[in-house]
Order: sequence, then C-alpha cells, then structure tokens
Amino acid sequence: MIIETAKLNLYYGKFQALKNINLQIKRNLITGIIGPSGCGKSTLLRVFNRMNDLIENVRITGSVFFDKEDIYSPLYDIIMLRKRIGMVFQRPNAFPLSVFDNIAYGPRVWGMNDKMVLNEIVERSLTAVDLFNDLKDRLKTSALALSAEKQQRLCIARLLAVEPEVLLMDEPCSALDPIATGKIEELMQELKKRYTIIIVTHNMQQAARIADEVGFMLLGELIEFDSAKKIFTNPRDKRTFDYISGRFG
Ligand SMILES: Nc1ncnc2c1ncn2[C@@H]1O[C@H](COP(=O)(O)OP(=O)(O)OP(=O)(O)O)[C@@H](O)[C@H]1O
Ligand SMILES: [Mg+2]
Repeated sequence: MIIETAKLNLYYGKFQALKNINLQIKRNLITGIIGPSGCGKSTLLRVFNRMNDLIENVRITGSVFFDKEDIYSPLYDIIMLRKRIGMVFQRPNAFPLSVFDNIAYGPRVWGMNDKMVLNEIVERSLTAVDLFNDLKDRLKTSALALSAEKQQRLCIARLLAVEPEVLLMDEPCSALDPIATGKIEELMQELKKRYTIIIVTHNMQQAARIADEVGFMLLGELIEFDSAKKIFTNPRDKRTFDYISGRFG
C-alpha cells in the first residue's frame, strides 16, 4: 500500500465534498477514479499532495497516509510531498520556456545547476515519455510550440525529472483527440512499471482499458472500490451498475 485514507472528510466551508473515504492505493498499479461531474474526484486527487491547502476555507478530518506517514500531521514536509507526488492536469500546462528549461525547472528548484547532470536528466525524462528522439535537436525551442499531446507528454516528463513516486492525473486526455489519447494511455502502461498512477477520468472506456483498480464516487462518497474487472463486469452496488451501464452521469 502506498496511499491510504481513513475516515477522510473534506469540507469547502459548510459544504461537504468528501464523505468518509476509506481507500487504499497499491504501489505500481494504475488506479482509476470515476464518477459523474461534481462527485469529488478532483477534490480527492488534490488531497493526496495537499493541493487543497491552496484553497481557502477547506477543512479536512480523518487521515491520509503516504508511505505509512500521515501527510496532514503538522510537521509533515509538504514541499517534499509535492516532489514525491506530482500532478498532471486536464490541459497541458507547459511553462512559456524552452523544452529544456521546462524539464530542468524542477531539478533547478531543488538546487541542481550542473549542466552535465541537467543534460542527462532532460534526456532521461524525455526518453521516458518517448519524446527525446523527436525533440533532441529542438531543446531550445518554446514548449508552447508543441502539439497538445506533446505538451502533455512534456508535462509528464517535467514531473519525472524530479523523480516522483506517484503521478496524479486529472483527466489528462480530455484536451486530446483519440489517437493522442491512445498514445498517452500506452505511455501510462509503460510508466506504471516504475510509478504509481492515480487517474481521474470521465471516460469509462479509458478506465476499463488502463486501470487495474477502480473507485466509483457519487456525491462525495466512495461507493465501491475494486479491481477494474469486477467494477466493469460485476459490481456489488446497484449505483455502480447504473453508472457504468450509462443510466446517469
Ligand atoms: N474551491 C471550491 N469551493 C467550493 N466548492 C468546491 C470547490 N471546488 C469544488 N467544489 C465543489 O465540490 C464538489 C466536488 O468538486 P470536484 O471538482 O472535486 O468534482 P469532480 O468530480 O472533479 O467534477 P468534474 O468531473 O466536473 O471535474 C462539487 O460540488 C464542487 O462544486
Ligand atoms: Mg474534476
């Protein structure tokens, strides 16, 4: 188990967005989080690297363990947490910098200034997302000139550059066409050998294709959590069944 929540509740002011979530995420698997719009998927994802801290009026009760440590305990090192658990967003958010500087950004923040080492990190990170051959002669061009799919790959490479353990992905393919989506899904299969991936997706076919385990959320509750096979072929809860068979959402 790499991440575990116990009796987790989250409130935005008076509104309760997460209700008694008890969840266990296993290492080196792809865990999918599905459910209709507004059920709390992004909120849950943000809990895992304390991105909710940046939102006003958020109150959390219960616990969230990463590698057996409670990440909401007062002395927990949040900067280190966000290095170990990185986030990929819906729209690629490449920085308005060169390809090289995008990837070198994180390592530089962490104090790495050795040009040779940075070259190595950039090559390794771009290779991991299958962009190196394509971009090796264009490392100085602006990242914003790349296609959406390549920018999304670049954003993943930027995370890998600081050697995280967990990748949080919030609808990472929603701005991409089906072919680009297929390529990112292939990449995730490759990455899960070394990383733990938690992906939020609206797209049930996508969850069925790539996730090993799936959680179904509804109105802030985790209704069911099981292997993808079980969730998509023989769910225990009628609400899960209704959702996966397209009755709502
Ligand atoms: N900053 C905020 N302040 C107040 N309420 C919020 C805030 N962010 C989200 N919410 C509310 O919390 C609930 C869960 O939102 P969240 O964005 O986590 O849902 P989601 O499942 O990711 O939805 P979607 O599929 O549309 O992205 C929603 O009712 C939303 O309106
Ligand atoms: Mg969301």
